[in-house]
Amino acid sequence: MNVLTTIAQLRQVVLDTKNQHQTIGLVPTMGYLHEGHLTLAQHAKRENDVAIMSIFVNPTQFGPNEDFESYPRDLARDTKLAASVGVDYIFAPAVEEMYPQDGGIRIRAGRQAELLCGASRPGHFDGVLQVVAKLFNLVQPDRAYFGQKDAQQVAIIQTMVRDYNFPIELRVVPVVREEDGLAKSSRNVYLNETERTQAPAIQQALQLAKCELQETQDVKKALALATKLIEDNTDGNIDYLSILSYPDLNEVTVDTEQIVLAAAVYLGKTRLIDNVIFSLKGEMAHV
Ligand code: PAJ
Repeated sequence: MNVLTTIAQLRQVVLDTKNQHQTIGLVPTMGYLHEGHLTLAQHAKRENDVAIMSIFVNPTQFGPNEDFESYPRDLARDTKLAASVGVDYIFAPAVEEMYPQDGGIRIRAGRQAELLCGASRPGHFDGVLQVVAKLFNLVQPDRAYFGQKDAQQVAIIQTMVRDYNFPIELRVVPVVREEDGLAKSSRNVYLNETERTQAPAIQQALQLAKCELQETQDVKKALALATKLIEDNTDGNIDYLSILSYPDLNEVTVDTEQIVLAAAVYLGKTRLIDNVIFSLKGEMAHV
């Protein structure tokens, strides 16, 4: 496996791959890989001739008081892990390689970015779209792999692909979890022992709300039960706990086909997110 650090190197690999009529699967990440990322890579490898993983802690999606500086990084470890699941190339550019230093053009995410994570992280999804659009243009993948862990991110990227006509198939992979139900995340390393013990309550709360919703269709009651479970079992602060239609992220009505139940909870300083997506008829269809 090769680690590419410049756009010129990446372009050459993409050109050679396309000349050989081989397909490319792209897995965009910010590194500090865990099983969630590796599952995406396995899908990419299985469904394409060449799997390219980007590892780039993207500064434009972090707010001024967020953890850009302290975000965990370990390229040597990531390289070994990516190789172990068959990734062919890692693209790990420096910030200066990705961004001209004089500002430049930004893409603005639309209505779907105003709520959930977008409400407490203004500009976050603009930064995500900026880097993802650049990666799409650089890699020109046939398929790109994203995790349902970041359900709002998937929904917004889907809209960008539609609105900007990227000829790319988006593949969405289910949330990979620890044995106790906590969604795997690079940020889980921030949790202290107590916080780590309390963290699975987020998923438990979402499951409780889901059952309530399936039984009674009562959104308010479902949210109240989930809120109580988190309050009773953690010292955390709920940033949001929401029930919306998916992927358009509107209020649920009788016509809603797919529902997302999403939560963001601060345990200490660590902000954890999780969600479940389902229809009142059954589970969401995945890759
Ligand atoms: P990052 O948080 O590193 O996640 C990279 C990809 O892995 C995302 O698509 C995310 O949804 C997926 N992922 C993370 N944890 C997962 C889990 N437990 N199960 C399944 N998939 C999981 O998301 C980003 O980076 C960035 O915003 C990025 C898209 C790379 C743009 O900078």
